[in-house]
Amino acid sequence: MKKIAVFTSGGDAPGMNACVRAVVRTALYHGIEVVGIRRGYRGMIDGDFVPMTSYSVSNIIGQGGTILKSARCDEFRDIKWRKVAYDNCVKEGIEGLVAIGGNGTFTGAELLMENFGIPTIGCPGTIDNDLYGTDYTIGFDTAVNTALDAIDKIRDTASSHDRVFFVEVMGRDAGFIAMQCGIGGGAEKILVPENPDSIDDVIATLKSGGENEKPSHIVVVAEGEEIGNAHFIAQKAKEALPNLDIRVSNLGHIQRGGSPSAIDRIIASRMGIAAVEGLLEGKNNVMSGIIDDKIVYTSFNDAINKKKALDVDLIKMVKILNS
Ligand code: F6P
Repeated sequence: MKKIAVFTSGGDAPGMNACVRAVVRTALYHGIEVVGIRRGYRGMIDGDFVPMTSYSVSNIIGQGGTILKSARCDEFRDIKWRKVAYDNCVKEGIEGLVAIGGNGTFTGAELLMENFGIPTIGCPGTIDNDLYGTDYTIGFDTAVNTALDAIDKIRDTASSHDRVFFVEVMGRDAGFIAMQCGIGGGAEKILVPENPDSIDDVIATLKSGGENEKPSHIVVVAEGEEIGNAHFIAQKAKEALPNLDIRVSNLGHIQRGGSPSAIDRIIASRMGIAAVEGLLEGKNNVMSGIIDDKIVYTSFNDAINKKKALDVDLIKMVKILNS
């Protein structure tokens, strides 16, 4: 293999730059040329390739976002546009790809391989931590700490005003971020899609808090929670408990930004190196992840389609820690 390309795709995540840096420097270390593709599959279709040198990835290990930019590209679902993307890669002399992203990114890579046989290895880059085949995804740790910091601040004002706050966090259909920042932030309740709950449960928790003379509460709600979003649940709680002073805070995209944590920089670097070395060993259509602190390769098919289990037993902790 003489030349590879690296790109970031889907929702950005802190640590993607550290991964790009690792991919570029590992390739150069092994004497392979590298290009970056800007804006993921969008740039592959547009032929937006940039040569990468060791210098081009200097001082980016601690930067949030992605220097290669990212995009969600619906056209890539259409084989006509995948052919355009493939032809551009061939013209550029690209023999292998490293795709940094989540579910959508790996689905695209799998289709590209299936249709045109271009070898790809993925690095799990998403704050959601919802990929099977890795204990943690790049960006998750930073996102949890960002959400935790916000919850600590909300706790201050909630406590001063004796208020109840419903705090909505990201995670798409998974509750990993909610669970971690909820436990770390001492939330009185954590609502995640993996653990069925009801409005009545929420109301009972708030009521029992009041009886224990604890008028300020934090309820962390995962965006994928099945009962409804934080506004909907807060409205129902207000109707049932009109004496409580209830507010909602949706943390939103701040969770995607910021300088990556040490953990994210390190796992991103390890996964980036493993992706390039995997390609050189002839691996293909797999994601490089870390399980029990060891690099493992998992097929895109499993990474996308197998459900990564959230340890819902952790919810028991919330009850104990609030007793
Ligand atoms: O996958 C990362 C993520 O931030 C999810 O947590 C969230 O549901 C989604 O992306 C938001 O996407 P967008 O920035 O395109 O609105």
